[in-house]
Amino acid sequence: MPAAIPSTMRAVRYHGPGQPLRLETLPVPEPGAGEVLVRIRAAGICHTELHFTDGLLNLGVAPLVLGHEIAGEVAAVGPAVTGVRPGDRVLVYYYVTCGRCHWCRTGRENLCPKVEAELGFITDGGYAEYVRVPARNLVPVPDSLTLEGAATLGCSATTAIHATRLAGVGLGDTVVVYGVGGVGLALVQLAKLAGARVLAVGRTPRKLDKALDLGADAVINAREEDVAAAVRRLTDGEGADGVFDLVGTAETMPRALACLRKRGRLVFIGYSRDPFTANTLQLVIDELVVTASVGNTLDELCLAVRLAGEGRLRPVIDRVVTLEEVPDTLEALRRGEVVGRAVAVP
Ligand SMILES: NC(=O)c1ccc[n+]([C@@H]2O[C@H](COP(=O)([O-])OP(=O)(O)OC[C@H]3O[C@@H](n4cnc5c(N)ncnc54)[C@H](OP(=O)(O)O)[C@@H]3O)[C@@H](O)[C@H]2O)c1
Ligand SMILES: [Zn+2]
Ligand SMILES: [Zn+2]
Repeated sequence: MPAAIPSTMRAVRYHGPGQPLRLETLPVPEPGAGEVLVRIRAAGICHTELHFTDGLLNLGVAPLVLGHEIAGEVAAVGPAVTGVRPGDRVLVYYYVTCGRCHWCRTGRENLCPKVEAELGFITDGGYAEYVRVPARNLVPVPDSLTLEGAATLGCSATTAIHATRLAGVGLGDTVVVYGVGGVGLALVQLAKLAGARVLAVGRTPRKLDKALDLGADAVINAREEDVAAAVRRLTDGEGADGVFDLVGTAETMPRALACLRKRGRLVFIGYSRDPFTANTLQLVIDELVVTASVGNTLDELCLAVRLAGEGRLRPVIDRVVTLEEVPDTLEALRRGEVVGRAVAVP
């Protein structure tokens, strides 16, 4: 029997760039037609939250409950909801899209220009005790997965699946994962599942060890080695078929580009305020492709859950924290102390 639903809840709210996150008391939302109230059991902490507090990513909505990797149990269902029952263990897809535009109709809802809600981005997300979501956005979590582990799939693994597909990573390719944090450690595993040879780049030995543990074929410490030279050494001078830049700074962007072989694909996932510059002659001569990957589709979230449920994709949880500890945990993430994901449990 699910517990009674209180009228108020604790939530960590963002109040705009440069403002501290605050733990506050808010009303528990009520599910409307087609909606579900989820009792949050775990919410992953993504680097994107640092871009919010720093003001790099400013979607103009505040106050806002952050957190877009959300897992929990169905607490209540609104009118006209079928196929979902209180007590169901679920992972939440964070985009609520129009369903009618060209992008939604062609299975690319992450690009929908008429997004109706985006949990933890423009509508209240997961650093709270409850969240209201359309029933369509729930993915059942198999018993083989903990809710903490499932939560981390909501962005890290699905972003990695989306980027792997977008880059067309295939059998025998060599790919570089530049930045082995929450998303990068999932990407190492996905690229291996896609049949690639994976070279992981980072600066923190514990993260590089984790990348090896998860299947990376070789690691490069960017503090000790010239990254592009190391990639060429490891590829008989050829360079990589694909490079995923999960940092996107003035330091990493030129190095990432320099890792590519002819026809190689550079995919930006990470970003910063630093501009990207490239020598167009080099792009032309080598027919290089520079692209980027944003978010994921519901179908990709379902795939992440399936792969993790079957034990073929391992969530990497560094620590489990309380809602009170979210601001300090974000600072630990900024300092590079988190290996994989930290997860907040209300
Ligand atoms: N496009 C999308 O859809 C999407 C989705 C999710 C996240 N993101 C973005 O992708 C980026 C990564 O997210 P995340 O959650 O995985 O962050 P994260 O957990 O903080 O991982 C980033 C990793 O990059 C490494 N790094 C930083 N500077 C480096 C450098 N100069 N050289 C080598 N490694 C470096 C850090 O490890 P070391 O300690 O080894 O330096 C860190 O672990 C963020 O910018 C985030 O906002 C984008
Ligand atoms: Zn994220
Ligand atoms: Zn749409």
